[in-house]
Amino acid sequence: MRQDIFKIAVCCLVVVSLMAGSLRAAISTEQKKEIKEILGDLAKIGSLVSKKKYTEAATAIQAAEDRIAGFVESAKLKEADPLLKPLHMQLEKVKGLLNKANGKGGTSFAKTVAPILASKCVSCHSEQGKGGLNLETFEGLEKGGQSGALIEPGNPDESLLISRLITEDEQQRMPKGKDALNEKDVRAIAAWIAEGAKFDGDKTEAMSMLAKNAANSKQNGPARKTEIVKATGKETVHFMQDIMPELMDTCGRCHNDTVKRSGFSVMSFEKLMRGGDSGAVIVAGSLEQSRLWRLVNGDDTPVMPAGNQTGITRKWYDNLKTWITEGAKFDGADPKKNFPTLDDREKAAIAKFTPEQWVARRKKNSEAEWKKTFPNVEPKQRESSELILYGDVSEDRLEQIEKWAGEHIGSLRQTFKIKDDPLWRGKLAVFVFKERFGYEEFNNSVHRREVPREILGHSQVSGSMEDAFIAMQDVGDSASDTSPGMQVNLIEQLTGAYLKRGGGSLPDWLIRGAGLSLAHRKSAGNPYLATMPKLASSILQESKLTGPGKIFDNGSFAPGEVGPIGFTMVEFLLKRGDLLQFGQFIQKLHSGTPPEAAAAAAYHMDADRLAVAYSESLPIGMKKGKK
Ligand code: HEC
Ligand code: HEC
Repeated sequence: MRQDIFKIAVCCLVVVSLMAGSLRAAISTEQKKEIKEILGDLAKIGSLVSKKKYTEAATAIQAAEDRIAGFVESAKLKEADPLLKPLHMQLEKVKGLLNKANGKGGTSFAKTVAPILASKCVSCHSEQGKGGLNLETFEGLEKGGQSGALIEPGNPDESLLISRLITEDEQQRMPKGKDALNEKDVRAIAAWIAEGAKFDGDKTEAMSMLAKNAANSKQNGPARKTEIVKATGKETVHFMQDIMPELMDTCGRCHNDTVKRSGFSVMSFEKLMRGGDSGAVIVAGSLEQSRLWRLVNGDDTPVMPAGNQTGITRKWYDNLKTWITEGAKFDGADPKKNFPTLDDREKAAIAKFTPEQWVARRKKNSEAEWKKTFPNVEPKQRESSELILYGDVSEDRLEQIEKWAGEHIGSLRQTFKIKDDPLWRGKLAVFVFKERFGYEEFNNSVHRREVPREILGHSQVSGSMEDAFIAMQDVGDSASDTSPGMQVNLIEQLTGAYLKRGGGSLPDWLIRGAGLSLAHRKSAGNPYLATMPKLASSILQESKLTGPGKIFDNGSFAPGEVGPIGFTMVEFLLKRGDLLQFGQFIQKLHSGTPPEAAAAAAYHMDADRLAVAYSESLPIGMKKGKK
């Protein structure tokens, strides 16, 4: 059997993780510098606290939080980005120092930490626990495991407990073999350690009991009533339309679920009405009693929005006033659900665009992308009925590329019998770079990734058409065994952009393979394409797939391997059946059928056997019959 060419080994994970590695975001020197500076700011706060300059320390903490928020926004990072971990840890540490000095020590072990340990750790760390560690009781936590103490009171960043929660080494990270704890839980534990890691309950009580009792006493404590009144439709101000967007955009920066000034978050209607540390901040019908209004209106200080970076509009101010006066009613669907983010709201807005608005948006975004790549180079530009081209090549060259692209779009229409006009809403942007350097810069600045050498172009088209572009290195007209020539490169990327239009999840090999295969019809003797079958067989011999049918899956091959595998697979499938069957295969994938099952259904054959037949279509070097 030929199955032996698919070495059954500890699997494609290796390949996938290599791939993830090569596409990993690069962090810029500027970002590194910013992080370092913020860490420097935070370090100074510690000495302010020890000099008992508490007000200054509080102001400095606030400034540092603002600076972190600004950094997160400008670098477009997620709150949970590992880059931010050292910042968050230092921040919790100095906050803890200050709370402790003020006698606040706000974080309760029983309420906050015990529930996390009870639910995530005790299953492995009970009596005779893993690593000699027993987390069933506080006593065990205090004692530590085989490596000694877990907690360095006041120093979360030097506590083994925290480092084992945030390490990026999956072998080391706890809970072992499971998802990392969420940001909120890690920060809560860090805050408790920063405040001195205090606990004055029964150290031998089971973690789960501690947590349970604390939860019960919380319930019996002073409950905050948040009455939510539904809008009748007769109000003149509508919350979701008139209040929510600016509330999120202006106030959400400091009052969200992570940065939560005064314990106040505006991320959902329920949170807004629940208020902050001082209780409810909106009292329906009463401006006088609504702390939120008083802060916005300047009756109380500090005036909101704090800082003078972003003010509010007159219109929003008036709307807010009317909305509270009219009873602060809610016209959304679910008060518990977080409001849509700016991104989501933009998406909903573009769904209503006219064709002209679409084109204007495409141009605006594309020009911004060009600027990110080459801030000081004005691109040459051309526009046709389906395309907007940008490039640093000559005028003539861009015109030539536009002509080729037009021809290929024509043949795509014929091959796939499409009537849509235009193919891409808002047209397709085409970026052409004269030099390798330009294409690499584009990948770096637009996608934050390093691009493997073998990749000469790519397409990105989202289902919503918010993104629709191809980007390419102009590889010149002549083809060799390392370069396909510009026409083939262009055909490949256009085909990719066409296939991605449906938004569905076609595997990379299929998208690249279909592009190269269509190019092959146009350029039959192309030396670059001629190398593909040989390359494909050596890639297969090296691959560590768990089974033949896995070749159909997305992500089984590294980016540099996808071309040869994809090209030979598509050629094989087209020869095996007809265009109709191939079309059915694509349709099944578009509708969400997993690749193996889609291949089996379209070709009426077990996917493993189909894959083996494919491997037999490749030229050389397959070891026969060992087993
Ligand atoms: C699925 C089982 C499992 C879960 C769940 C788990 N651990 Fe572990 N943990 C282990 C094993 C196994 C070791 C010993 C090997 C090692 O050090 O990686 C260990 C070791 C440790 C150590 C090092 C002890 C020492 O002294 O060397 C710490 C600290 C730790 N775990 C903390 C936690 C925390 C905190 C949680 C919950 C968030 C947790 N673990 C959840 C399996 C688990
Ligand atoms: C730059 C950060 C920032 C922005 C932006 C901001 N706030 Fe604040 N907000 C704060 C800080 C800091 C406090 C705590 C002030 C204090 O009590 O010293 C606070 C406190 C509050 C409180 C008091 C909560 C309580 O329970 O005590 C309310 C209400 C509030 N903000 C509303 C708003 C509104 C409404 C907006 C938008 C119009 C807004 N904030 C924008 C930083 C900000």
